[in-house]
Amino acid sequence: MLKKILITGGAGFIGTNTAAYHLKKGDKVIVYDNLSRAGAKQNLNWLKSRNDDFIFIKGDIKNYKKLLETFKKYKPDLIYHLAAQTTMVTSVENPREDFEINALGTFNTLEAMRKTKSKAVAVYSSTNKVMGDLAYIPIIEKEKRYDYKDIKGVDENFPLNFHGPYGCSKGCGDQYFLDYARIFGLNTIVFRQSGIYGPHQFGIEEQGWLAWFCNALLFDKPVTIFGNGKQVRDVLYIDDLLRAFDLAVMNIKKTRGKPYNIGGGPKSSLSIWELFAILEKLASKKFNFSFGSWRPGDQKIYISDISKAKKDFNWLPKVSPKEGIKKLYDWISQNKNLIQQAKVFKR
Ligand SMILES: NC(=O)c1ccc[n+]([C@@H]2O[C@H](COP(=O)([O-])OP(=O)(O)OC[C@H]3O[C@@H](n4cnc5c(N)ncnc54)[C@H](O)[C@@H]3O)[C@@H](O)[C@H]2O)c1
Repeated sequence: MLKKILITGGAGFIGTNTAAYHLKKGDKVIVYDNLSRAGAKQNLNWLKSRNDDFIFIKGDIKNYKKLLETFKKYKPDLIYHLAAQTTMVTSVENPREDFEINALGTFNTLEAMRKTKSKAVAVYSSTNKVMGDLAYIPIIEKEKRYDYKDIKGVDENFPLNFHGPYGCSKGCGDQYFLDYARIFGLNTIVFRQSGIYGPHQFGIEEQGWLAWFCNALLFDKPVTIFGNGKQVRDVLYIDDLLRAFDLAVMNIKKTRGKPYNIGGGPKSSLSIWELFAILEKLASKKFNFSFGSWRPGDQKIYISDISKAKKDFNWLPKVSPKEGIKKLYDWISQNKNLIQQAKVFKR
């Protein structure tokens, strides 16, 4: 059945892939984005170059009037709310702007749904940062990485503990999304995502670490390791996230009003040193790196326990980090001109 899909932040990394996926299925796609992110213009051009048959609205998520008009005009029946200020560092530099985009922008989206009596399913990309630094979980320090001592991963029952302006603003959106299902009956789902990676990701030093390190290696730029390089994240290839979106939406009766921890899980976790080993092998060259101090609130290790997603909508990731990183590496190698245009390097 033809669907009308509104993607806020639809020119970003996850948004572009989501848009391309739905356009391929023949759905009607509306991209709402202010193109503020490095690479967003390049992503939009790419979307246009392969399929012009979608609607692009250059709009700010803070602009409630414009958002409401968009909802009234297009009456979407599926919404991905992805527009966001996505870096912790920027949120510390400008906490008000971060709040207005992430907290108020998410509230605007929900209000536009409520005011238009929307029956749409709406998915919100939240983040594992809403769990805080999790410093109370016992960990083991190994030669090249940290590991959890007693658990496989962090599930949805761990207490929320917003850290940093980005954690607070995303967490605020996360809680409003869940509450609008409870109080106003909206069909919302929250994905608390770990590191997602893949083509059309314009990694910068502050965000999108896999893509950032790929960029740096391919352009022979020096990198800083903040901390000791043993920090671990579970990583998820974009195609696996798109499948999770689909399955969660199809199973809305079960997933409605619930949060899900979504990442590669225990089988797909990587430290910086482990990533370096994979990339250095692919590129046949070595990183030029130095060390910096730990970033405030940085988790030494974060691995999602993804069993609730498996139980509720039968989802498990399929793409291994080795396989996925090769695809990301190849995409960057083939699109070096876009990376240059997007100005991802400060020096
Ligand atoms: N990529 C990840 O690893 C990851 C992990 C956890 C959560 N998330 C969340 O997933 C979502 C998408 O992430 P992404 O990696 O695609 O980020 P991205 O930065 O590539 O995309 C965000 C998009 O939002 C747009 N945008 C920013 N401010 C806006 C505003 N005021 N109005 C309208 N549009 C605006 C940007 O131009 C960009 O196109 C975000 O909400 C992010 O917090 C991502």
